[in-house]
Amino acid sequence: DKGTYPFYMLKEIDEQAIVIRHLLDRYLDENGVHIGGAILDEIKAADRLYIIAAGTSYHAGLAGARMFEQWAGIPTEVHISSEFAYEQPLLSAKPFFIFLTQSGETADSREVLQNINEQGYHSLTLTNVEKSTLWREATYALPLLAGPEIAVASTKAYVAQVALEAIIAYAVAGDRVDFNLHKDLSEIAVDIQAIVDDKATLEKAAADFLGDAKNAFYIGRGVDSSVSLEAALKLKEISYVQAEGFAAGELKHGTLALIEEGTPVFAIISQSKTAGLVRGNVSETTARGSKTYTIVTKSLAKADDDYILPDVNELLSPLLTVVPTQLLAYYASLQRGLNVDRPRNLAKSVTVQ
Ligand code: F6R
Repeated sequence: DKGTYPFYMLKEIDEQAIVIRHLLDRYLDENGVHIGGAILDEIKAADRLYIIAAGTSYHAGLAGARMFEQWAGIPTEVHISSEFAYEQPLLSAKPFFIFLTQSGETADSREVLQNINEQGYHSLTLTNVEKSTLWREATYALPLLAGPEIAVASTKAYVAQVALEAIIAYAVAGDRVDFNLHKDLSEIAVDIQAIVDDKATLEKAAADFLGDAKNAFYIGRGVDSSVSLEAALKLKEISYVQAEGFAAGELKHGTLALIEEGTPVFAIISQSKTAGLVRGNVSETTARGSKTYTIVTKSLAKADDDYILPDVNELLSPLLTVVPTQLLAYYASLQRGLNVDRPRNLAKSVTVQ
């Protein structure tokens, strides 16, 4: 039931702080991580992780892979399930598979799971639907605890996937890392709540920057480039505005030709190592007349930035930076008078290949 909400999507965006708290209650308290079975041992024993997913879940995988590599020290690849299924790359000697899927029924991902089961490899599914096919057929499964996601555009499942990947990577990392993830995620839950409480700012930004837009660009570097992909997908699917998200450094290698007077460009800046470079890329677009909207973490912010987020562990930043982009997409769709929850041509669960 969507209660007083006009659309499920807005309700589900609003629930994202609670989703993080549910994950903390179940998997990570002050005393440590509670993930049972042999899951952590199997991941530790692997020489390479393969994250398999589609759509928004694939984008959550791109964020998670960085944590498995940088915190846990395990080489990690992220693959689109429909590609992996028919062009399996050469695997390492001891691979372990992680399937990310809100529905647990995505046919492309099921195809990969079937293939790797036949090859005798072990896997973990992170899904929002217990007892779903990918839940049942993987070696291990953990629930995302996001609660039913009804809107076709996925929001809270993305946040749940990134947060649960963080908890698992942190558990595997052990002494390799010395920050307190419980504290960080608790603060992020508070920060997400503050963003959703400040919807009006993003409603206005959607009107100002996307009101009459035919196209839009999202740019960032490192994990911000992965969030850019997700931000663009969200805008495309519910507002039908053609959008591209990509690594900011690629702009000058082609896409810059599309920037003209008034083209909306959204820059996500949360990575200290590359913030200056993204600023440079932003100047390249504003010099061609783009309307640029910057989403920046506090310590990297400048006076004329548009949306300032609190500082956060840089690999956890997708949990914050994605939220304003979800709201931008939501309001762009709403302001066009579209059915936000049921975009044309799309189904919530894609059970065909
Ligand atoms: C986008 C969206 C889709 C799904 C994709 C995978 O908002 O919802 O891109 O993320 O179809 O679905 P799951 O996660 O159920 O495997």
